[in-house]
Amino acid sequence: MKIGVVGVGAVGSTAAYAMAINGVGNEIVLVDYNPKLAIAQAEDILHATPFARPMSIIGGDYSDLKDAAVVVIAAGVNQQPGETRIELLARNAGVFASVIPEVLKYAPNAILIIATNPVDIMTQVATEISGLPRNRVIGSGTILDTARFRTLLGKHLGITPTSVHADVLGEHGDSEVLVWSGAKAGNTPLFTFAEQINKPITQEVRERIDHGVRYAAYSIIEGKGATNYGIGSGLSRIVKAILTNEHAVISLSIVNEEIVGVRDTALSVPRVLGADGIEATLFPSLDEVERNQLQASAVALETAAKEVLS
Ligand code: 2OP
Repeated sequence: MKIGVVGVGAVGSTAAYAMAINGVGNEIVLVDYNPKLAIAQAEDILHATPFARPMSIIGGDYSDLKDAAVVVIAAGVNQQPGETRIELLARNAGVFASVIPEVLKYAPNAILIIATNPVDIMTQVATEISGLPRNRVIGSGTILDTARFRTLLGKHLGITPTSVHADVLGEHGDSEVLVWSGAKAGNTPLFTFAEQINKPITQEVRERIDHGVRYAAYSIIEGKGATNYGIGSGLSRIVKAILTNEHAVISLSIVNEEIVGVRDTALSVPRVLGADGIEATLFPSLDEVERNQLQASAVALETAAKEVLS
């Protein structure tokens, strides 16, 4: 059950730490363009294992990924001052062009989990470069936005977020779609539940939660320079579902054949995830506003991807 993590800055290293603490897999290999960083992160995380479960964690090179079942890719560069998003995309596409063939040389049967931003388009780039089936190149997508939505709803209602069933779909980014219409608390429609416990979802509450989910990354980055705990935990959750053949339903991004009339574009909807990657894609019922928002999100991603991939 070997897991690789390529790119071990804030996100990759926290993903490895979350896997160690959650007992996901029994062997983790960290790879980075800076080999000293990979070795140091591995050593530090290894020192956490006596507080969790013993496992092997090493910092190595691509050849150490040999026969890995899953490889998380968090490699990439940050936007520089004055640089446009498209330029960043082009640079990260360049990073993937060198990273992905190296990974596949040693781990040709691995499922790739993409975390590098903008994650939907990078998932598309990774799918094209790798030539792997679409269901084996999986972007973390809106797993994190969904967690943020559930956290804020749980907080408002005074219930555990694990009893909140609500998803964020579309782009992992500004055009994402919070699906209010299908949200539930336990088995009760969200709005009914909220009325019953006297914590109605007013327009003000709705706008506050929407803002808190959609723009969470901006305020966290302003305060600490990066986000890592939420996404690191989400990546650990994805890897666990694969290694345990869980058939879990999670909102994730892969290149869709067609969705809301848009073809060959990566974005998130709920999917069934198991040992072979994405086993099924679900399309939840949406109201008209949400459906239009999802289509706008898909078109925005299609346009941005075309600019960089053409
Ligand atoms: C996040 O949403 C920045 O994509 C990262 O936390």
